[in-house]
Amino acid sequence: MSATGPARIPFHRPSIGAEERAAVLEVLDSGWLTTGQRALAFEEAVAAAVGTRHAVAVNSATAALHLALEALGIGPEDEVVVPTYTFASSGEVVRYLGARPRLADVDARTLNVTAETLEAQLRPATKAIQVVHYGGRVAEMGPILELARGRGIAVVEDAAHAIPASRGGVAAGAFGEAGALSFYATKTVTTGEGGMLVTNSDAIADRARMMRLHGISRDAWKRYTAGGSWYYEIEEVGFKYNLADLAAAIGLVQLQRAEEMRLARERVAGCYAAAFAAAPGGLAERVQLPDAPGADEVAAWHLYPLRLRGAAAERRGEVIDRLAAAGIGTSVHFIPLHLHPYYRRTYGYRPEDLPVAAAEYAREISLPIYPDLTDGEVERVVAELGRALAG
Ligand SMILES: Cc1ncc(COP(=O)(O)O)c(C=O)c1O
Repeated sequence: MSATGPARIPFHRPSIGAEERAAVLEVLDSGWLTTGQRALAFEEAVAAAVGTRHAVAVNSATAALHLALEALGIGPEDEVVVPTYTFASSGEVVRYLGARPRLADVDARTLNVTAETLEAQLRPATKAIQVVHYGGRVAEMGPILELARGRGIAVVEDAAHAIPASRGGVAAGAFGEAGALSFYATKTVTTGEGGMLVTNSDAIADRARMMRLHGISRDAWKRYTAGGSWYYEIEEVGFKYNLADLAAAIGLVQLQRAEEMRLARERVAGCYAAAFAAAPGGLAERVQLPDAPGADEVAAWHLYPLRLRGAAAERRGEVIDRLAAAGIGTSVHFIPLHLHPYYRRTYGYRPEDLPVAAAEYAREISLPIYPDLTDGEVERVVAELGRALAG
């Protein structure tokens, strides 16, 4: 409590402790700040956690998605199916390569793509499918892989929300040809900014390792080490996507804490369910809570996407403003790509082309969910939401 009222509950608070601080100081004192031993160790730790042969550390999930599609040889003649219910990155990486993103609708319950919504967007030019594991719930990958494999189409998983998360014992990122993890500041495992390309393919990993650092032949990062050589050769026009040791050191600690932090988020989700069930004034009937994950699923709970029902849905913007005025930070995930000016202008999309995403977006509010959100704070969010809808 401050003199002016209860403390603000931000949409996100990173969970950073003494170990992360110590790990950063150690790197600062080591004399080696950029890509080096910490990044290599982080790659090994992520590959072990996800269960893939390779993990290639980069500075964002956007970079990982770009490198995955580049390594798959996507080019201007190709199409990539991308969920419309996603962030800017998913579509823009397809455009970086000159290809066309063909947007797919989602399942109303999970907000994930399904084999059916993807199949509707397959064309002769389709070379790859991107699957976003929305909010940290792994999409139903069995039928999606069957659809893609039957037609020789590559599957790239956007697992930016989904570590740690799995379905049937397989981790997000390990199902398709390649996966992209994000360690952005709000994500479940963070390095401030950062990402990882995970894959079982030697060819994709080799190509991504070269392209993430200027297209220089091999181990370019080593050229300033004691054993390194000044000589290098540029094989391709690459990118500057490498992850610094400063960031990787934070990631190594965060990864060790990943399951503990996931359990804390799961506790917050349970607390929301209990608070809504107990809320007065029929609040529970005016909202739709995210479904509990299935028995074979482990959900990362990156998001807590609430849907307003009936007349309440028409007041979504006002509810967000009222919550902000009451000191509660919220967000909306996502404004579907097909509603954005670029996609409307370039490809002629109209809202009704992908109707489920358009309708669900209009009634969605993402509530705060992070490891150190207390039960009392969850109850306050629910009480303020009740007041916002009553007023
Ligand atoms: C679904 C999805 N994909 C990709 C990204 C991009 O992640 P990064 O910021 O690490 O590039 C985000 C970021 O929020 C995201 O939500």
